[in-house]
Amino acid sequence: MKNTITLVLVIISSFTGLQSCYYDKADMLYPNTISCDTTAVVSYSQKIVPLFQQQCYSCHLSASMGGGILMGNYAADKAMAVNGKLYGSVSYASGYSPMPKGANKLTNCQLALVKKWIDSGSPNN
Ligand code: HEC
Repeated sequence: MKNTITLVLVIISSFTGLQSCYYDKADMLYPNTISCDTTAVVSYSQKIVPLFQQQCYSCHLSASMGGGILMGNYAADKAMAVNGKLYGSVSYASGYSPMPKGANKLTNCQLALVKKWIDSGSPNN
């Protein structure tokens, strides 16, 4: 009986494992179906903040959890964009701690949006 339960758990967990893989690769599998509009102006408030809320602010609103790196307001986020650490960390460039820590790398689309925002002068738009 115990073995059956273990077997069922193994099957369920391998299934959810496969599923998360599948979603991780979604933007590689369907490169054109996800709306990844990098031609438009990238808005800090509409694109960058929601992404950071999802991926970064959980640690970086508090200095103790985020290794002393604070994010979460325009001035702080812009400073990190300008000094190169933002793109260095999310693009896994050598010499930077890869971010988001302990999670999957951002998708190509998310990286492209961050890069475009930085390249356009990281405006507060
Ligand atoms: C789970 C917590 C956590 C999350 C989520 C997280 N960080 Fe970090 N971050 C850290 C810690 C801790 C450090 C200190 C360095 C280290 O431990 O790697 C750090 C360091 C950094 C640094 C400095 C890197 C360097 O090499 O100087 C930057 C920039 C950074 N984070 C940006 C981000 C961004 C942008 C995101 C979201 C895309 C993010 N972090 C998500 C915990 C986190």
